[in-house]
Amino acid sequence: MTQMTNRQYFLASRPAQMPTADNVQCRDVPLAPPGPGEVTLRNLYISLDPAIRGWMGDAPNYIEPIALGDAVRSSVIGRVVSSNSPDFAVGDVAMSVGAWEQYTTAPAAGLNKLDEAAGIPLSLFLGALGPTGLTAYFGLLEVGRPRAGETVLVSAAAGAVGSVVGQIARMQGCRVVGMAGTDDKCAWLVDALGFDAAINYRTCGDYTAAIGKACPAGVDVYFDNVGGEILDAALLCLNPHARVAVCGWISTYNVANPPGPVNLWQLVAKSVTLQGFTVLDYLDRFGEGIGQLARWLQEGKLQYREEIVDGLDNILPTFLRLFDGSNAGKLVIRIPEQG
Ligand SMILES: NC(=O)c1ccc[n+]([C@@H]2O[C@H](COP(=O)([O-])OP(=O)(O)OC[C@H]3O[C@@H](n4cnc5c(N)ncnc54)[C@H](OP(=O)(O)O)[C@@H]3O)[C@@H](O)[C@H]2O)c1
Repeated sequence: MTQMTNRQYFLASRPAQMPTADNVQCRDVPLAPPGPGEVTLRNLYISLDPAIRGWMGDAPNYIEPIALGDAVRSSVIGRVVSSNSPDFAVGDVAMSVGAWEQYTTAPAAGLNKLDEAAGIPLSLFLGALGPTGLTAYFGLLEVGRPRAGETVLVSAAAGAVGSVVGQIARMQGCRVVGMAGTDDKCAWLVDALGFDAAINYRTCGDYTAAIGKACPAGVDVYFDNVGGEILDAALLCLNPHARVAVCGWISTYNVANPPGPVNLWQLVAKSVTLQGFTVLDYLDRFGEGIGQLARWLQEGKLQYREEIVDGLDNILPTFLRLFDGSNAGKLVIRIPEQG
């Protein structure tokens, strides 16, 4: 019998700036059978998230850096092809912490079984009904704490997290302003998602003036996905007692020595709360969050965009699209079952 192989993309060296094919390399390794209590998934979907860029470095983070030589860590959804656990049968579909690889072998205890028969597109469990939807839900409601009538500003607003943040803020009765990098994205925010205004940050010129114009009553909640100069400008537009929910700082992820924010004094001047968070802070409430997001989807109150790219071998160039803004919504790699 021929030995099965597992194609993997692994971290050969830590990127200093934008990851390259020298940093992330391909190899085919023998596929070992699952150990006791383990399950092997044939991956169907691999989630591409900006956070992976952070794990490629060795700065302190909320989970361990990817070790050099290890396959690049990622959330995956796969079909069970071999199981040493009574909880999973061959053919079941599950979500797991996995990697940029064809097959993921993991302890059954860490897997979430997904009900394929429910008819929900599986990729949604990586996006609007998964980590990015949950990040928006808990980050906005628990950290941003918006109240009806307040103004919520969101950066990377047309992305997987930002687009959900804005729609939830609208449902809370807030005025919502998004910042995004193209006119098409801005039009989608206003025309399809019901944002009150959108700013194309690549063409608007002075950020502070543009935010001030789009938010004439000031900003009460800034949901920060990007950091950098946009954060600095937003800080100058905050109302007294505003909340800044620091979700991500994607503008700095590929910059070797990014300058720090210079307007933090505004925290004092306006009695502002600036709070970072990760979605994992709310792990024990994921059931509640997924239930609510699913209800909103069913009721047509929540829309989402996802971009699914076929082929494991496209994974690095596709990942890099998160950083030039050419992704339209939640970015996922699919490895077709007949492939
Ligand atoms: N705290 C958590 O638990 C958590 C969980 C998930 C994600 N996050 C963070 O949330 C943010 C969004 O993640 P996502 O998964 O939803 O990705 P995404 O928004 O779907 O994709 C990333 C977007 O960021 C924008 N961007 C890239 N480089 C930028 C720059 N230099 N300046 C301004 N905008 C830039 C691009 O949109 P434009 O075309 O608009 O530029 C790009 O499409 C990231 O910072 C991520 O790290 C945090």
